[in-house]
Amino acid sequence: MISFKEVTKSYNGDKNAVNHVSFDVNEGEIVIFLGPSGCGKTTLLRMVNKLVSLSEGDIEIEGEPISKLDTIELRRKIGYVIQSNGLFPNMTIEDNVMVVPNLLKWGNKKKKERYNELMKLVGLDSKEFRKRYPNELSGGQQQRIGVARALAADPPIMLMDEPFGALDPLIREHIQDEFLDIQRKVKKTILFVSHDIDEAIRMADKIVLMREGEIMQYGTPAEILMKPSSSYVSDFIGKDRAIKMLSLHTVDELKEDIGLLECHEDIADSKQIHLEADLKNTLSILLNQEAEQVCVYDDENNIHGAITIDLIQQFLHQKLGNQKNKAAVIA
Ligand SMILES: Nc1ncnc2c1ncn2[C@@H]1O[C@H](COP(=O)(O)OP(=O)(O)O)[C@@H](O)[C@H]1O
Ligand SMILES: [Mg+2]
Repeated sequence: MISFKEVTKSYNGDKNAVNHVSFDVNEGEIVIFLGPSGCGKTTLLRMVNKLVSLSEGDIEIEGEPISKLDTIELRRKIGYVIQSNGLFPNMTIEDNVMVVPNLLKWGNKKKKERYNELMKLVGLDSKEFRKRYPNELSGGQQQRIGVARALAADPPIMLMDEPFGALDPLIREHIQDEFLDIQRKVKKTILFVSHDIDEAIRMADKIVLMREGEIMQYGTPAEILMKPSSSYVSDFIGKDRAIKMLSLHTVDELKEDIGLLECHEDIADSKQIHLEADLKNTLSILLNQEAEQVCVYDDENNIHGAITIDLIQQFLHQKLGNQKNKAAVIA
């Protein structure tokens, strides 16, 4: 666990860039620092690996205050990925990925195995890229190399500062999904900076929503969408909060909650959707294809029923309605 305790940073004594921030991060979670430019996200992140010093408070990793930890030892436990990937332009891809193992003086066999393993993990051909240089790679490939490099010595913690921020939207979504797949395998504790609410909802286990150096709300994406703690938070989420919520739920969950309709398989061009698809994608398929219904299939090609815009609406009402009732009970 990582505990932030009254963490404060003052760069010039004027106004604190980060102001008495406290929260805990559980092992294996992705926690996203979200907020507008200048609200202190990068400062908060860089205090964890001591690239920025703390003015007040402390950060504890597994109960040990970082102020008492040796900086080199600390950074060995922490992988760091930044937007401008930080690859060395005059080094080959293999040498870039192996920077930390080289520093740690690993043997050749171990390094070679690790390089191959990491390239496989990030979905790039190890042979093809070995002797190439960063400028011969696309932006998306460079970011993957950045992720591979940060994972090289298998650190338990990863810090990622808008790692996909420079990629165009389509590639970005793709690499976000890939990264979630990687995380399912490696289960790191990840602190991730973003100013993009959609990215945060898609990727975070928890979101730290910040404003001017302070936390406005800390919670799961669902909590933040369903129970924004202030008008600042609801403004930040925006008007399409219902649509955003849909991306958190799958067709399968809707099936469990309210059931599906009968699939009219005879409809000649009947559209299909996978049981595990999220409801936001399902809705956009229904809207884009002007389909009245899409039939739901699973991996074994079994038909589970059909889904319509009406059903999605019902599901959403139920979710939002329940939430209101719960709040009323608590109040
Ligand atoms: N090295 C620095 N020296 C002085 N002020 C800084 C420095 N780095 C950041 N700041 C200020 O601290 C505040 C928070 O910045 P930052 O953490 O970079 O925000 P974010 O990552 O959310 O955009 C801003 O007002 C910024 O101008
Ligand atoms: Mg920043």
